[in-house]
Amino acid sequence: MYKIAVIPGDGTGPEVVREGLKVLERLAGLEGFDFQQRFFDFGGDRYLETGEVLPDEGMEELRGFDAIYLGAVGHPDVKPGILEQGLLLRLRFELDQYINLRPVKLYPGVATPLRDKGPEEVDFVVVRENTEGLYAGTGGFLRKNTPDEVAVQESVNTRMGVERCLRYAYEYASRPDRRGKLTLCGKTNVLTYAWDLWERAFRELAPEYPGVSTDYAHVDAICMWMVKNPEWFDVIVTDNMFGDIITDLGAMIQGGMGVAAGGNINPGGTSMFEPIGGSAPKYTGKDLINPIAAIMAAQMMLDHLGERRAARRLERAVMLTCSEDLKSMSAGMMGHSTSQVGDLVARRLEEVDGEP
Ligand code: IPM
Ligand code: MN
Repeated sequence: MYKIAVIPGDGTGPEVVREGLKVLERLAGLEGFDFQQRFFDFGGDRYLETGEVLPDEGMEELRGFDAIYLGAVGHPDVKPGILEQGLLLRLRFELDQYINLRPVKLYPGVATPLRDKGPEEVDFVVVRENTEGLYAGTGGFLRKNTPDEVAVQESVNTRMGVERCLRYAYEYASRPDRRGKLTLCGKTNVLTYAWDLWERAFRELAPEYPGVSTDYAHVDAICMWMVKNPEWFDVIVTDNMFGDIITDLGAMIQGGMGVAAGGNINPGGTSMFEPIGGSAPKYTGKDLINPIAAIMAAQMMLDHLGERRAARRLERAVMLTCSEDLKSMSAGMMGHSTSQVGDLVARRLEEVDGEP
């Protein structure tokens, strides 16, 4: 029995999480696993009512779950940064979810802005470091609000943090369902301290993974190749800030924010899975948003929990839904409502299996 904490969050978060849970329930029945869900109301509305983003007791309680299923964070009436830092980043940091895993996979029938590229060419995974770098929150002001103001924002890179991220990436590239190629995405030509550390650790670990071939590219070049030759990539490993940026580009080439999911992973602790598109306030409550990203976040959660069969089955059902049922991946243009898409995926589960 898996214990799942559900944080529907803001905006369209609750609508898409509802569909993810609907599909999970059907799948649990078919595949014979069991889960218990408990809802937490953290997010913008609660903050506006109580002034509290994430109470310390809540934080402690979450540690007791096998996984967290998160909808979205971000409320139009709350100043930017408060919910992001107080909820999303706090959870990532305090639960030490040091990996942000973001698959970039284009499914058959899904439109990509890349001309002449299809599912054969767009299939890679970004392993983003998730607890350090520019997100560490170190820095400060000097002479604030004067003409001589100084603002410093530091990138923190520890050997421990870099190495555990690289190891995860090497191991991921060794999985039988990957192609054994790992690309380090950095900026060794300008950020000569941080990326010197990353590159040294990357090279030092390589002999331990003889089955993985390695490659390096600067982050700006990676952006270019992701558009021009995405087929070159299998697993990309990078720091927190670069990973944030290149995975939005990745989301676009895999069909948009409606399909992109991610996992905030602590291999020895509580991990958290979320659609990466945000709260989309203008679509809130309209039953128009695409729940596929949230359903795929649930799929990643199953894979992480070790329910590999069920995860494969769900991915196949989503692929069928995308190719056979949906007109578009964009909100309001799917040819179906949010809840209908959940129903379609649930129905398609009957037609596929989870064989390797
Ligand atoms: C993401 C988001 C977050 C990030 C924001 C909401 C803090 O953009 O998950 O990619 O920058 O990590
Ligand atoms: Mn982002």
